Amino acid sequence: MAQTIYPGLAGINIATSQIALIDGIKGELLYRGYDIRELADRVGFEEVTYLLWNDDLPNRTRLDAFSDQLSGLFALPDPVYNLLHSLPEDTQPIHAIRTAISALAAFDENPDDVSTENIHRIGTSLLAKFPTITASFERIRKGMDPVAPDPDLPVAANFLYMLTGEMPNAAATRTMDVALVLHAEHGSNASTFTARTVASSLTDVYSAITSAVASLKGPLHGGANAAVMRTLEEIGSVEGVERYVLDALAQPHGRVMGFGHRVYRVVDPRAIILKEVARHLAEESGDSKWFEMSLEMERVMDREMERQGKQIKPNVDFFSASVYRMLGFPTDTYTPLFAVARISGWMAHLFEQYADNHLMRPRLVYEGPRGRVFKPIDQR
Ligand code: CMC
Repeated sequence: MAQTIYPGLAGINIATSQIALIDGIKGELLYRGYDIRELADRVGFEEVTYLLWNDDLPNRTRLDAFSDQLSGLFALPDPVYNLLHSLPEDTQPIHAIRTAISALAAFDENPDDVSTENIHRIGTSLLAKFPTITASFERIRKGMDPVAPDPDLPVAANFLYMLTGEMPNAAATRTMDVALVLHAEHGSNASTFTARTVASSLTDVYSAITSAVASLKGPLHGGANAAVMRTLEEIGSVEGVERYVLDALAQPHGRVMGFGHRVYRVVDPRAIILKEVARHLAEESGDSKWFEMSLEMERVMDREMERQGKQIKPNVDFFSASVYRMLGFPTDTYTPLFAVARISGWMAHLFEQYADNHLMRPRLVYEGPRGRVFKPIDQR
């Protein structure tokens, strides 16, 4: 009997969820019912994480308590700093982060208990430590000592502070916070599904999050932001964009990074916000090259996709590349920055997964041979 195959599990629902709604036709993204545009405008990363991990936004007392809890967990165990020091300096930051997250399990007295209370404890600790790992490794690989986290700073400011050792200005901190809010959660994307799948065997949170980082790093997912910047660097000028896009699309299954999405048929609402952030940064800094190239790429892709009758639009990774560039981040830290934010959504999904767990166990339709006649090894 013919069996239905769902390549890439497209269109398959794996569970009900209360966390995020993505309307790919309207171009809408809601975190627990709140529009991402309003959240990006009005709340910070801690507040949005509280929302994702609970039923609603926190009041002042709850937010302060959550922020205090986080700041007490920013620092890493000394052996994890040593581990980061022991990695070759040309280690890609995302490999360093994945390794450090996995190692943290060894310094946790109770890593394997998946009770609600314990997974919240681990999630809070990981949320606090992702920025510290990322900023510390960035300095270590440049031959500098890590900067100790400042418990009085919120996550976004602290991250920038740990990178440079200097207090960041309000504008950079706000931009960082907006980027974190926009990248915090996005439904059943590949890394979140990976986290849920790994957790579904009732293994521990560290294993699930290590696997999620591994999934995020791929160029079709969170690795796309760095791929966009490498593309812009390769092209080098606004004038070169059209030729590049036409050549890329002329290849069989040719892709232009930062475009297309499994769910959105219109522009990703996060890309619309990031485009304005990029425009603002370009105007402020006077360095508009990357933004101008991005606009040109969007224009040519729009024209070509319309010609081909396809709805392939910019996704979150497209304008985040020029935003991160203008904030001064090295290209290979863009995907780690995504992870610093997405730990928030990964954990929200793990809370749901552990609370109502079903082992993920899809099937494959076997099409290989059957009934073969076995020959002993000396007769093959
Ligand atoms: N450039 C050109 N054509 C595209 C693109 C693109 N970026 N994306 C999709 N298409 C076209 C293409 O014609 C494709 O058909 P074919 O494979 O025969 O060439 C058709 O659309 C369907 O694409 P698909 O890959 O089957 O669709 P999907 O839902 O599996 O793909 C995607 C989603 C994100 C993997 C794909 O759009 C892509 O590879 N984009 C580039 C990488 C990227 O920007 N990833 C970030 C995704 S959003 C944020 C995140 O999750 O991190």
